[in-house]
Amino acid sequence: MWTQCWLDYKAANKDAYGKYFTTLYVDGFKKDDVISTASDELARASLSMFERSLDIDISAPNKGIIIKKTGQELLGSEGYHIYADGDIAYIEAGTPQAVIYGVFRFLALVRTDAFNDKTDVTEIPSNPIRMLDHWDNMDGSIERGYSGNSFFFENNDIIINERTRDYARLIASIGINAVAINNVNVKEAATDLVNKRFIDKVAKLSDIFACYGVKLFLSLNYAMPIEYEPESADPLDEKVITWWKNKMKEVYDVIPNLGGFLVKADSEGRPGPFTYGRTQADGANMLAEAIRPYGGLIIWRCFVYNCKQDWRDLKTDRARAGYDYFSSLDGQFADNVILQIKNGPMDFQVREPVSPLFGGMRKTNQMLEVQIAQEYTGHQIDVCYLIPWFKQILSFKTYMNGADDTESTVANIISTKTGNVKIGGMVAVTNTGNDENWTGNDLAAANLYGFGRLAFNTDLDSEDIAREWIKLTFSHDKEVEDTISDILMSSWPAYEKYTAPLGIGWMVKPHDHYGPSVDGYEYDRWGTYHRADWQSIGVERGPDGTDFAGQYNSPNREMYRDASKTPEELLLFFHKMPYKHVLSSGKTIIQHIYDTHFEGYEEAKRMRDEWNSLKGKIDDRAFLESKKRFDMQVDNAHEWCDIVNSYFYRKCGIDDEKGRTIY
Ligand code: GCU
Repeated sequence: MWTQCWLDYKAANKDAYGKYFTTLYVDGFKKDDVISTASDELARASLSMFERSLDIDISAPNKGIIIKKTGQELLGSEGYHIYADGDIAYIEAGTPQAVIYGVFRFLALVRTDAFNDKTDVTEIPSNPIRMLDHWDNMDGSIERGYSGNSFFFENNDIIINERTRDYARLIASIGINAVAINNVNVKEAATDLVNKRFIDKVAKLSDIFACYGVKLFLSLNYAMPIEYEPESADPLDEKVITWWKNKMKEVYDVIPNLGGFLVKADSEGRPGPFTYGRTQADGANMLAEAIRPYGGLIIWRCFVYNCKQDWRDLKTDRARAGYDYFSSLDGQFADNVILQIKNGPMDFQVREPVSPLFGGMRKTNQMLEVQIAQEYTGHQIDVCYLIPWFKQILSFKTYMNGADDTESTVANIISTKTGNVKIGGMVAVTNTGNDENWTGNDLAAANLYGFGRLAFNTDLDSEDIAREWIKLTFSHDKEVEDTISDILMSSWPAYEKYTAPLGIGWMVKPHDHYGPSVDGYEYDRWGTYHRADWQSIGVERGPDGTDFAGQYNSPNREMYRDASKTPEELLLFFHKMPYKHVLSSGKTIIQHIYDTHFEGYEEAKRMRDEWNSLKGKIDDRAFLESKKRFDMQVDNAHEWCDIVNSYFYRKCGIDDEKGRTIY
């Protein structure tokens, strides 16, 4: 069996809320699958929290819960309004999908004791698209999965069972409205997801998600027509164009509510339009035209770079690739194409600058892609609450419309607020699998919960989200809440300290990406270097180097080009600096490296002690699962600390001022 994460409806405050969980009246909505899902959820919660079945009323009652249809002028198609009036709790919304969000929010308010006579909550999602990308393979494995196997696929077949529905419910409860179920690297059987072999089952999955207001997407094999009569994937070849048109018709005849397709092309060995001398826009637009009659979207990834670089070549810079390939195509993409841009120019490191494509593309639909699968942030062994990091990314000012423009933050661009993007949003490479607790480490579920909540409302505070999740998942006990909140809020800074401070990145074990290997990627083809020698460390990305910094709008450009203006947490990302350079703390870079690694290791031990203090205060299963992982995290932090410090000590020969043991 599996847990229900934050939807485990434990007994709630009957004195305060029992009066609402008596009758349910649905006012103005016709009964459909989505409204039924919402009513069922309230009934389930009522039974579980108050041991009371909910009567469905047919005439306006004077107590209970009323779901009420309003016009969409105020709340749009996904917003809701929750309030109390006497003995009635109202959930108002304009569409069935919005009712789902309102119902889950109402239940969360009740369960965190935050609903009362004065409650008046209106929430309209910040982002049109709030999506999760699964990197699940059809053999059941998950690329970069750290929580078991896929619950969608097994032995090259699709799984549909009770867990499918529970998953849809979990993600709808946090406001997710789109999900891509298969790996962006579409290989072997996965190509057939759009063929007769699997299409009926995909349709069933799509229907289940539709009951929760979630659109299903598939990752598409761009090279598919090569295997068929066109024997080509050239986006301008008429035979290829017709082939895709027919394919889309075939798919949409069976799955009319399919959201569309996610495409990774010309990346890490995946074929794409470059093979035929065509642009990324040629490729994306060809698919977009084929899918247009059905209202579908093509989500096209910008993770395009040369993964066969020569490490000796100091001029080529992987960080430049996204902007170099895409920025000149601004305005050329069809209106049903959305570019999916990774948060940073490299690849989900613990710290990177924001991709210059945000604010660099002014006339193109775009979404922010982050990764809650903890590929580079501890494999869901180490705790690393990523929401504070995502908040920083969202608030980054791109200066898209000039140096005075403080409004064009990443959040405002992707949400369509700045007006130059017609449709956008946020997507996370997700962290779930078929483990009992869904996310391997119970604490990793905070990233899933947090991502959904933040994508729905980018103004939320990361600590508030954490505390809400703790209350819904573990306990209302203040000490438990404070302890777990403290662990979560200190976890990302701690992880950064014991791994790769000052933006250097990549000192991980190759392929696996857990644990230290300072030179693991240094003499390899992936474009991922620290360039450390005996005097200095860092990649020069200012005008004397690759001038990646020049891809930003002013004044970010000037800031990143100049080492004295570059924010220190990114200093070594942008500049090759002497170990003896003095930081604003008064410490040299080498002393900063030593200190942060020792501190990070101490932090890991402190977090483990804090967790261990919760014994007996939270659910035993969760306590023990994370306890096991905290021990592993401490070992990991220890390795990182000693290996990184020894490596740089041996490289530069500068002693630690504090005389600690370095090997
Ligand atoms: C990273 C990751 C790959 C993944 C790729 C992507 O490079 O290591 O496993 O396929 O990102 O985002 O496509």
